[in-house]
Amino acid sequence: MADFQNCDSCISSPLELFERVTAQGEKVRSLKAEKASTDEIDAAVKLLLSLKVKYKAATGQDYKAGSPPVDFSPMSNNGPTTALDEDFVDPWTVQTSNAKGVDYDKLIVRFGSSKIDKELINRIERVTGKTPHHFLRRGIFFSHRDMNHILDAYENKKPFYLYTGRGPSSDAMHVGHLIPFIFTKWLQEVFNVPLVVQLTDDEKYLWKDLTIEKASEYAVENAKDIIACGFDINKTFIFSDLDYLGMSPGFYKNIAKVQKHVTFNQVKGIFGFTDSDCIGKISFPAIQAAPSFSSSFPQIFKDKKDIQCLIPCAIDQDPYFRMTRDVAPRIGYLKPALLHSIFFPALQGAQTKMSASDPNSSIFLTDTPKQIKTKINKHAFSGGKDTIEEHRKYGGNCEVDVSYMYLTFFLEDDDKLEKMKQAYTSGALLTGELKKVLIETLQPLIAAHQQRRKQITDEMVKQFMTPRKLAFDF
Ligand code: TYM
Repeated sequence: MADFQNCDSCISSPLELFERVTAQGEKVRSLKAEKASTDEIDAAVKLLLSLKVKYKAATGQDYKAGSPPVDFSPMSNNGPTTALDEDFVDPWTVQTSNAKGVDYDKLIVRFGSSKIDKELINRIERVTGKTPHHFLRRGIFFSHRDMNHILDAYENKKPFYLYTGRGPSSDAMHVGHLIPFIFTKWLQEVFNVPLVVQLTDDEKYLWKDLTIEKASEYAVENAKDIIACGFDINKTFIFSDLDYLGMSPGFYKNIAKVQKHVTFNQVKGIFGFTDSDCIGKISFPAIQAAPSFSSSFPQIFKDKKDIQCLIPCAIDQDPYFRMTRDVAPRIGYLKPALLHSIFFPALQGAQTKMSASDPNSSIFLTDTPKQIKTKINKHAFSGGKDTIEEHRKYGGNCEVDVSYMYLTFFLEDDDKLEKMKQAYTSGALLTGELKKVLIETLQPLIAAHQQRRKQITDEMVKQFMTPRKLAFDF
């Protein structure tokens, strides 16, 4: 999808940028007219201002409503210009020019979410009586919306449920995709709540060069990887959109309600859709929004419309849920709460996230121990120095070193991780040695995942994917 909000490689002409500014201006106006929250309006205004600055840098003219740029020549795509040189994050693209990765603090401001600070982590620990997951302790889940409401509800013995998902674009998931599922499993165990997992095979059919049959097939294969994360079958419902939509009037009614309350202009502003995008894409966000409302699952929640939802995901999915939170009160529902993670970076560096379409950028859940070793040794971007001598003298840079970044996700032992950091930074530990630690951490982890996946039968997948009551009474 051409989303040219901040992504220099996606903007092909000043005219597109002009249209983008116009759409964002309309979005700000409609948010104000709808009396949206100050946070949402502020975030939209900030984006509008930054787009206007880019427009001026690209055309040399101030943006003037109704006066498109005179020069329609394509803009240069030869590397970022300063004006367009900003992090870009949406559900399809993650890009930054900074080797340390996306500036997540700035993203919090731009998206209007809240930082997961020490106070919130302490509260989670107090309320659950459990040591916070290392994804929380290490800032991997770094941002949230309304997590305090969830904790208030939990303390008052009010139920809530978890909702997360996966777009099945291929049969092999990469380790980055595991992050939200590993964390969701921890949340499910700690809070003992129902979980719904949406497989957006329809989304992948609409966006990718895939047949409906292939997308459905990938949904089942991906469901096996998700189940292999260890979810409790009595507390988890996994569904494919292509199947569930046709069998659940509750789900479809909520989709229709969302569709009625979001305009084309709004989705253009949020997702950057253009006039040439198919109408399936334009209405798809309503399908990802609907599982945030408990009445989409009457088999689990009976007629309860007010069970609060908590969505763990990486921050790329936030645009869907900003839209959902905007619509929710207008259709009589609670806004879903969110927990956002940072991205597991590509092997080549933190400028982008792992991508399932580039085998060398990712470690897949299907990789053999040998493939893992070769990929890390060959492709993992190093923050080490060019020669051993220099490295010993000046030390390595953990902030850009992909092997070290991966260890922060998967090496659970805090002391060992800290020792690695110190040794690498001082130069005592060489890049090859750090990579070896990563290889030895990932090989058994992925082998264990493959072992668990092998045990999952088609019958088990069918059970997880059958609409049914879960082990909770509502
Ligand atoms: P998808 O399949 O792109 O990604 C699945 C989940 O993995 C997260 N993710 C990552 N997390 C960390 N590092 C990465 N490199 C990385 N890449 C992807 C995504 O944020 C997501 O949580 N449209 C969605 C499917 C979906 C969904 C949801 C996701 C439907 N409903 C509710 C989250 C919550 C998609 O295509 O995800």
